[in-house]
Amino acid sequence: MSQHLQHDVLVIGSGAAGLTLALNLPDSLKIAVLSKGSLSNGSTYWAQGGVAAVLDEADTIDLHVDDTLNAGAGLCHADIVRFTVEHSREAIAWLIEQGVPFTREDPDARETGCEFHLTREGGHSHRRIIHAADATGAAIFTTLLEKARLRPNIELLEQRVAVDLITERKLGLPGNRCLGAYVLNRNSGEVDTCSARFVVLATGGAAKVYLYTSNPDGACGDGIAMAWRAGCRVGNLEFNQFHPTCLYHPKAKSFLVTEALRGEGALLKLPDGTRFMPRFDERAELAPRDIVARAIDHEMKRLGIDCVYLDISHREADFIKSHFPTVYERCLEFGIDITREPIPVVPAAHYTCGGVVIDQAGHTDLPGLYAIGETSFSGLHGANRMASNSLLECFVFARAAAEDISGRLEQVSMPGNLPCWDASQVTDSDEDVIIAHNWDELRRFMWDYVGIVRTTKRLQRAQHRVLLLLSEIDEFYSNYRVSRDLIELRNLAQVAELMINSAMQRLESRGLHYTLDYPDLLPEARDTILQPPTFAD
Ligand code: FAD
Ligand code: SIN
Repeated sequence: MSQHLQHDVLVIGSGAAGLTLALNLPDSLKIAVLSKGSLSNGSTYWAQGGVAAVLDEADTIDLHVDDTLNAGAGLCHADIVRFTVEHSREAIAWLIEQGVPFTREDPDARETGCEFHLTREGGHSHRRIIHAADATGAAIFTTLLEKARLRPNIELLEQRVAVDLITERKLGLPGNRCLGAYVLNRNSGEVDTCSARFVVLATGGAAKVYLYTSNPDGACGDGIAMAWRAGCRVGNLEFNQFHPTCLYHPKAKSFLVTEALRGEGALLKLPDGTRFMPRFDERAELAPRDIVARAIDHEMKRLGIDCVYLDISHREADFIKSHFPTVYERCLEFGIDITREPIPVVPAAHYTCGGVVIDQAGHTDLPGLYAIGETSFSGLHGANRMASNSLLECFVFARAAAEDISGRLEQVSMPGNLPCWDASQVTDSDEDVIIAHNWDELRRFMWDYVGIVRTTKRLQRAQHRVLLLLSEIDEFYSNYRVSRDLIELRNLAQVAELMINSAMQRLESRGLHYTLDYPDLLPEARDTILQPPTFAD
């Protein structure tokens, strides 16, 4: 039997953004935090490098702001960048207060004025990345989850896949407030109706739209697709970040080799041992990610090689093992001893810079609906996100949204009875092969046609294919009972279409969007904002 559930706040997503928001809401509220798999299945758990923040006395807010603006290639929203950076120190103080075990600086080897070790990453002019060795995400997630488990007002619900948002407009009512969501309970197989005074999308990114990615399986852009279908604008979805260094090994699925290695001196090399980054940028290995990933792609295509190499073996073995235990152990499992030999690496899709348009408090275009973290488009990242600014964005915007919700409690009451999910017209699918096939096809053509280097012709090909897929998926969705795979495929295809359309609108090369047909930068920097058909009517 399907259920009707009621909460003050329905948080869809249990990563850094979702947990931070829930923990910053008052104890008096009844809160649900959903995850479509286990609670740890988002990207947060896998974050390695750390969180960028102004923590060293010699660093300044202006420097962090300038570095972010430079990496963003003219498209960052300066007010949002300043807001985020100005709140970085208090966000970290909150994490420390929760008990996150950040790596402390060895007092004898102190390079900064901070008691915690601060590392460097691409684009940063200063040491400002606070971290827990090279497993920062796991340390943060575990700490926040423990805190959430201690709060009786927070219900943590695993194996719940939000299918679609429920809005006044969809129900034929005046206004367009978000009233809740339909959620597939994978334990019962039923779609539950969840009503809430406030709904928060904290569903992460969409890098799974590409064949090769650093992201875990659930990064399917569900929040972006649900918000779009409910009438929200989305922004800058053409900016897909490729991380330059993912382990290249036939058995290593999606393993990232943190940029902090380069921050601590690792060099990128060709198979003959020569460096190539100085030929591409004066910052060499520490140039922003778009530049490093494109340089690697260029060298791989020029030389017809399968990978390049990242070499940190010139540093002391003890240093490597203590700062990068996760990378060391994982590479060793594949027979690579990083204290002695270089690591084979390739770029892979890593981060979705665009998303659901929000303001400084996380409001979307729909009253009652917030979006925070990687699913959102706040204007912080511009055309290219600077390393470790993503987790920072999760904490700053989650806390801002929690404060905003807390200030509106008296204005918003619980929605009345919402209709149940209608499954009367659908049957069980006997053709799941279609889902698997379409999933593979989508991710392959996105990789081939909407990747690091684009052309108009490739984008047109991708657009043609995605429209065919969308119509097939629509038919499937109308006739068969929903499953996690079907929901994700539907959302991935929707987001892919939005990415392609956004890329086709940008007639220049800027940041992460590089097209051979328009290699130059236009004088004016503009966001690509797409408006869903239902929004204006
Ligand atoms: P996530 O942590 O991805 O969580 C998404 C949540 O939403 C999950 O709980 C998922 O189950 C849930 N969800 C999604 N769809 C649905 C649905 N339909 N129904 C119900 N639940 C749903 N950034 C940094 O700043 N520093 C780093 O060092 C860093 N390292 C990284 C390393 C790796 C390998 C990866 C993949 C990313 C890294 N990033 C890093 C990026 C950063 O980790 C992410 O941007 C950030 O963690 C996103 O957090 P989030 O809370 O927005 O989403
Ligand atoms: C990394 O550790 O290289 C990832 C950092 C990030 O994505 O911000």
